[in-house]
Amino acid sequence: MIPLLKKLEELRNTAFEELESLSSKADFEAFRVKYLGRKGEITSCLRELSSVEPDMRPKVGAAANELKKELTEALESRLNEADVKAKPKSKIDLTLPGRSHFLGKKHPISRTVEDIIDIFYGLGFSVAQGPDVETDYYNFDALNTPDEHPARDINDTFYVEDGICLRTHTSPVQIRTMENKKPPVRIIAPGRCYRKDTPDASHAPNFFQVEGLYVDTNVTFADLKGVINVFARRMFGSDVKVRFRPHFFPFTEPSAEYDFSCMICGGKGCRTCKNTGWVEISGAGMVDPAVFGHVGYDPSIYSGYAFGMGVDRITMLRYRINDIRYLYDNDLRVLTKL
Ligand code: DAH
Repeated sequence: MIPLLKKLEELRNTAFEELESLSSKADFEAFRVKYLGRKGEITSCLRELSSVEPDMRPKVGAAANELKKELTEALESRLNEADVKAKPKSKIDLTLPGRSHFLGKKHPISRTVEDIIDIFYGLGFSVAQGPDVETDYYNFDALNTPDEHPARDINDTFYVEDGICLRTHTSPVQIRTMENKKPPVRIIAPGRCYRKDTPDASHAPNFFQVEGLYVDTNVTFADLKGVINVFARRMFGSDVKVRFRPHFFPFTEPSAEYDFSCMICGGKGCRTCKNTGWVEISGAGMVDPAVFGHVGYDPSIYSGYAFGMGVDRITMLRYRINDIRYLYDNDLRVLTKL
């Protein structure tokens, strides 16, 4: 047998055997270079043709070309096969751990409002509501805050159009309630309020308040202090202390601001309470007779107390957050932890 034909025959045997054992892409490529490449085995056989008897050359050349064709086809079909194998049969990987569902929960402010409502329900209050978009009359005038009062400065709120603004506090609900009901009145009014404040750690352009109002005969400041004290204890436990400081509000006389002892440092002083040991919650006082005048209550018969309540502050104390913006940024990394 012509030695080159023999060599081709051996090449065929080893190449086909080798092809069967290949699996990776790199293996296939190495195989192609080794046998079919420009410097590969078959090319080198073709180069050796010159050593073959001239009349035998066509036969040997044809055999080499035939082997090249067969190997090329076999390599191709093995590649296709490998490609099919590499693709996963199903897109579902049953070995992966299950996906847990994300369970939402109520926003900390909503939870605080609900707890405040619960406590005041227990004290005989019911819930009243008013609109976020208010008239100047309810937001200011009827609350004894006339036109020239600094609280009406345009910078203090957002005006929708002349005479209509986003309410700056929940106090207008006092007026709306008294307009529609004769005493005794005992309500709280939770809701969102707006002020043209630049956001910082303790200010947000929208925030929450709960208003309180109790009007009856013989209501005194002592009743107000009593109800705020009971509220503070139910909300924060028996260790909390409450203090009232004289203040001015146009719609109450006398007026006060009231503080709770700081729950974060236990009254020792920290960043949240600005080292005072106290956190201001809001204002309160005895309803000014001028306000009764706007709703047709007779101040010689009735007296009443009113208070505001900063829901955000209470929420920050409960959840120990020292920046109000965390409550409005909708950052799940924060909210899911509260
Ligand atoms: N409306 C006041 C504010 O937003 C808070 C307030 C003070 C409410 C005294 C009251 C009150 O009901 O009597 O700053």
